Amino acid sequence: MLRNKHQEKVKIANDTILKMIKNSRKDRFKPKFHACAPINWLNDPNGFIYYRGEYHLFYQHNPFKPSWGSIHWGHVKSKNLLHWEHLPVALAPSEFYDIDGCFSGSAIEKDGKIYAFYTANKCIGAEEMNTVAGEILQTQCLAISEDSINFRKHENNPLIKHAPDSGQNNHFRDPKVWIKNGKWYMILGTKKNNIGKVVLYDSVDLHNWKYIGVVSESTDMNAYMWECPDFFELGEKEMLIVSQQGIGDTNNPNISGYFLGHLNYNTAEFKHGTFSRLDYGVDFYAPQTTIDDIGRRILIGWLMMPINAPVDINWVGSMTLPRILGYSSKGKITIKPISEIKSLRREGKHFKNLVVKKGIKNAPLICGNSLEIIIEFDLKKCEAKEFGLNLRCANEASGKIIIKYDVNHSEVILDRSFITVGKDTFPKQKKARVDLSKCKIESSEEKLLLLHIFIDASILEVFINDGEYVMSGFIFLKSKELCIDFFASNAQVIINKMDVWKLY
Ligand code: FRU
Repeated sequence: MLRNKHQEKVKIANDTILKMIKNSRKDRFKPKFHACAPINWLNDPNGFIYYRGEYHLFYQHNPFKPSWGSIHWGHVKSKNLLHWEHLPVALAPSEFYDIDGCFSGSAIEKDGKIYAFYTANKCIGAEEMNTVAGEILQTQCLAISEDSINFRKHENNPLIKHAPDSGQNNHFRDPKVWIKNGKWYMILGTKKNNIGKVVLYDSVDLHNWKYIGVVSESTDMNAYMWECPDFFELGEKEMLIVSQQGIGDTNNPNISGYFLGHLNYNTAEFKHGTFSRLDYGVDFYAPQTTIDDIGRRILIGWLMMPINAPVDINWVGSMTLPRILGYSSKGKITIKPISEIKSLRREGKHFKNLVVKKGIKNAPLICGNSLEIIIEFDLKKCEAKEFGLNLRCANEASGKIIIKYDVNHSEVILDRSFITVGKDTFPKQKKARVDLSKCKIESSEEKLLLLHIFIDASILEVFINDGEYVMSGFIFLKSKELCIDFFASNAQVIINKMDVWKLY
């Protein structure tokens, strides 16, 4: 078969993946019901789309190495958002305009085909640019698939060749496309004078794009770049998601979250409220959403690996569980796990009125590599200053993860400082990632603390108070069986009820 340049590059990637998988060992840290790359590096979710009765998810993927580098689009699909089937690599860098990476983007369906919009990354030599250091040029491209597997890059690529004056060419990326009243719209992340921005384009044919204006820009002088924007209607309001570089602390400078507001499609102006986080764990970044056939707005994010990962794994990074965005009865944004997860429940245990005594770890021990736990702590009668759970193995030497509640500060804390596996040995990661994630919560009227916890091998996700807050991250422990117990400082705490299931 005569292949074009792109098909050739896709084949090289797929052959490499198959060969490397064949020669590699299975490891017990790999999640079972989270989307991951078959091998090597994964970052942002891309092109998330419900298409012909299945969820397709693409992702930033380096098929050759367990580190960021030659960026392709990996591809998985699923019927239930839990069991993901690996498909061949969809996009490979192959053309003069995308030779240094097929960066993030989104997908829409038109005339039964998948249209994938992505950012082409190209490093231009110093000579061409007439500069000392050379430059990066980021342009916006289209690839189309009729069978959802094979993608053909558009002959007129790049469709958007330069950033608008409000942005800059070397940081102009991550197109998210949607339709509104018969017209197509695209937002992109960019920056100017070290201020992160999101800009808007429109199109009637998906090929010719017209710049409209700046949707929003950072008022925090630290946010030097906004990337991976997403935009959609949620109930009466509109949500703009951005991943901001520079606003966190030195260990975790990049934070993803959202603004709620209203977009003027003619001027691009988005009037909005304050920025809120989508997840309080430090590994979470670059989420993307799609809408499915029953109107659910589903969000999936990237969990990046911390330094404390074990060295003997051949896959790096994972997606979160898919999460549904909505509103609580009080009108707050909620982020909840997909209900499909219930189908994974196996053996269950149910408890009522458990007393966790001061200083004594006396709650029932629960073990399992994949678990779902729902716990309702009673804050009304609670005099403990701090209480929580240790996720740990049987003995002290093997370390533990702590999820605790600081009553005085109303903070849920995820403490990974007692991780023992692979500490300080994760390849080439320069600085240690922060071990503490904190989430300040508004206490519920009912004076309860509800934790809905999922553990899938090395991934932990904690949904707090019915999805008002989420915290997730990797947890690497020596123990094969992940045992859990409880503690309370200075006084007891009561668990009104607790349900635990082993998940398969
Ligand atoms: C976010 C990001 C995107 C970019 C991609 C490259 O993690 O920097 O802005 O398109 O990663 O892999």
